[in-house]
Amino acid sequence: MPDLDSLATHYTHGRLLKAIEEGVVKLGKTPDTVAVEDLGPVDEFHIGGRIATEIFLDQLALTPDNHVLDVGCGLGGASRFAAQKYDCRVTGVDLTPEFVETGAALCAWVGLTDRVTSEQGDATATSFADGNFDKAYMLHVGMNIADKAGLSRELYRVLKPGGQLGIYDIMRVGAGDLSYPLPWATAPEDSAVGSPDDYKAALQAAGFAVTAERNRREFALDFLGRLKTAAANAIGAPPLGLHIVMGKTAPVKIGNMAENISNNRIAPVELIAEKPA
Ligand SMILES: C[S@@+](CC[C@H](N)C(=O)[O-])C[C@H]1O[C@@H](n2cnc3c(N)ncnc32)[C@H](O)[C@@H]1O
Repeated sequence: MPDLDSLATHYTHGRLLKAIEEGVVKLGKTPDTVAVEDLGPVDEFHIGGRIATEIFLDQLALTPDNHVLDVGCGLGGASRFAAQKYDCRVTGVDLTPEFVETGAALCAWVGLTDRVTSEQGDATATSFADGNFDKAYMLHVGMNIADKAGLSRELYRVLKPGGQLGIYDIMRVGAGDLSYPLPWATAPEDSAVGSPDDYKAALQAAGFAVTAERNRREFALDFLGRLKTAAANAIGAPPLGLHIVMGKTAPVKIGNMAENISNNRIAPVELIAEKPA
């Protein structure tokens, strides 16, 4: 079972905000002029980046009166994108202090501190009141959370009746040992990849009705293939990208993930669930 301190260490960079600022300057911008769109390549830490976020979030039909929870928000890229596109309010929770601090600074850079906030904490035991949120979503987080039943119960608790939950996680779809390191785990003990059936059983036991399921394997392989081609043709790394967040081991982590997906051991899967009204 993943240990919370070890996970935070896995994700901690040390000087992440400074490294992102250096990338922003290489783009020809500054913290005062950078936009939500510019940050997408570095602040969306999941397969498909912002493209995947948009396709996924459109299914939740977010509206301006919605208060939305971003579970395991990381740097908050999806939170800022959602607040800007759907005009809603977003609150994030994430385990890794450096991600929460850096995310707050990025919100200040793009002028979204009034609508996007986040706090450090464990998604299975948050500080939020019962029925605090209209909608919730989770992007590539459940691979670090073994207690999917506890997580589902907590998300059920903080959602209003009639509230929707969207999940876009890497899930176990076939047998075979995974190659490590992976973007979410340096070694097997940090990983808790579950199958779609594990998620659905946990969600249903908490009281959710699962309304949609979609395997995104082909989308992922296409996206990772294009990433590989772009990297092979590029002279040096782009100014902003996940290589900044993942560090020197980024190519091997992404390569292992692609190999595990092409061998049908894991795949990104979307699930939509609803708390009965
Ligand atoms: C691969 S990143 C995804 C971040 C973000 N959702 C995104 O897509 O950009 C996984 C995130 O899950 C967070 N995380 C892992 N376990 C958690 C837990 N128990 N509670 C809250 N956050 C957690 C990590 O700190 C990390 O930010």
